[in-house]
Amino acid sequence: MNDDCDCVLFSQTQIEEGVRALASRLTKEYQGKNPLFVCILKGSVFFFSDLVRWINIPCELDFVSVSSYGRGTVSGELTVKKDLSCDVSGRHVVLVEDIIDSGNTLFKLKNLLKARNPASLKIVTLLDKPARREAPISADDSCFTVGDEFVVGYGLDYAERYRNLPFIGVLKRCVYEK
Ligand code: IMP
Ligand code: MG
Repeated sequence: MNDDCDCVLFSQTQIEEGVRALASRLTKEYQGKNPLFVCILKGSVFFFSDLVRWINIPCELDFVSVSSYGRGTVSGELTVKKDLSCDVSGRHVVLVEDIIDSGNTLFKLKNLLKARNPASLKIVTLLDKPARREAPISADDSCFTVGDEFVVGYGLDYAERYRNLPFIGVLKRCVYEK
């Protein structure tokens, strides 16, 4: 499976450093606010579970799964496959995403949750891919910025594979262009 990657972009050690640094910033920012961390399934699963274990204040966790119509264009409909199990009104919500690419799906999810009147809504992402942004959305905080390349591992998939790689690698073009 490792042979399908051109290179390791971020090693396990680099990922841990990046995630711990983000957790430390969030710990300071959300003191006394009992934030609600929301995992966007499935890509964020490892990032989320590592991140929240380094958060050193009381907080709550929830999970959401969404997809959007027509490969996620800005105008397409958002389908909620699994909604949150708690009410976000009046809560300090932190949406935890794996990677922001076009930003289309996240833009729609953000609007959906904003309409439920949270006290605040912040977006944090493991990877930010700003070169490909289409929707008017940006991460409030991130661990790493990547270029226009297709990456897998540490939760990120190609056709549901490679999520379980412990590092983040660049997928060889021949894997998805054959
Ligand atoms: P967006 O709506 O275009 O921002 O797409 C976001 C979703 O596309 C992410 O949550 C990922 O599931 C997927 N995605 C975007 N770029 C990559 C990549 O380089 N590797 C793996 N998944 C990606
Ligand atoms: Mg995905």
